[in-house]
Amino acid sequence: MKIALLGFGTVGKGVYEILNRKDTNDTAQIEIAHILIRKGKEKKLPIMVEDYDQILRDPQCECIVEVMGGIEPAHTYIMKALQAKKHVVTANKAVVAAHYQEFIETAQKQQVQFRFEASCGGGIPWIHSLLQAKRIDLIQRISGIFNGTANYIIDQMVKKDLEFAVALKEAQDAGYAEADPSADIDGIDTANKAMISASLAFDIVCTRDFPISGIRHLTKQDLHHFLQHGYSIRLLMHACMQKDRYACVVEPTLIKTDTLEANIPDNYNLTSLYGETLGDLKIYGQGAGALPTGNAIVSDVIAIQHKEVPDPVVLTHKTFDTSLLKGDYILRKDKQYQTYHAVDPLWMHEIYREILQEDPAAFLARISTKGEMQ
Ligand code: HSE
Repeated sequence: MKIALLGFGTVGKGVYEILNRKDTNDTAQIEIAHILIRKGKEKKLPIMVEDYDQILRDPQCECIVEVMGGIEPAHTYIMKALQAKKHVVTANKAVVAAHYQEFIETAQKQQVQFRFEASCGGGIPWIHSLLQAKRIDLIQRISGIFNGTANYIIDQMVKKDLEFAVALKEAQDAGYAEADPSADIDGIDTANKAMISASLAFDIVCTRDFPISGIRHLTKQDLHHFLQHGYSIRLLMHACMQKDRYACVVEPTLIKTDTLEANIPDNYNLTSLYGETLGDLKIYGQGAGALPTGNAIVSDVIAIQHKEVPDPVVLTHKTFDTSLLKGDYILRKDKQYQTYHAVDPLWMHEIYREILQEDPAAFLARISTKGEMQ
């Protein structure tokens, strides 16, 4: 099967390397026919082109792999590909989260596939596992560590007793964090993955209107304080569904030091789902990086090559209700810690926003209850 790569950054190069290895029968049968590069960029390979229409006009190119990142022009390119009846595979969580419904509906109308395994959890087969689990169970709860950079920063802070700024610099030096790390440390990247995961798990279109907070204000004194009470901390996503209601949050969360979540090292991810008959399923692996993410993309391309038709995505309406995720919180303001019990996350985050006006370094974390983390 002939495919085109849109973009040749870290992930694009990972896909290229995996396919060039031709290690298996499946990978040997996929040919990269075109690589779209930005206008003015040096054409290092003969298959590199600047004109997207040239790719769309190639009738032999059946599948477009979008690995550019960002919203535009990725959104326009994906829509053009679907409208030209080409399958689309993407790793771009920001564009999938923002245009989930449009992509799903256009792909279904055009009778082509839209696949996004690489958008959540990198090399972890998370989307595949959700789809499998959904065939039997109503998925009631999903959660997990979906951002490797934030996990790496916290892990370095804990292991080396570092301040946040030093650990962030280490994450940048290691190539995990961007020069502008906001999306990773403020929970935006995790929120995009939460939107995609909750939409798929609960048959809804989950939008960004849920409480999101990050680890920007975490200090090593916080970590010492939490540890004294038997807790570690991770940046977690939680979403749940009950009948016609659902809720979702992205928050730093205190977890008992003996849990799996508390012991996820380096830049690894841990994704979890709970279904009535399956119970808890937790999958651990690399959530980022050229080869793990490239692996997830190639696995989607192979599924298309094998003509595996995924179960149709259903879009229903459910009411967003954060009271489903009422919980306990700890808030640090002016170096004093205060706990709140059984409060609505929406209310808690409003209070936090007000407190940030008085103490711009204030920090908020959820305290996990057993049910959420089982
Ligand atoms: N910045 C992301 C992370 C990359 O650190 O997990 C993978 O989505």
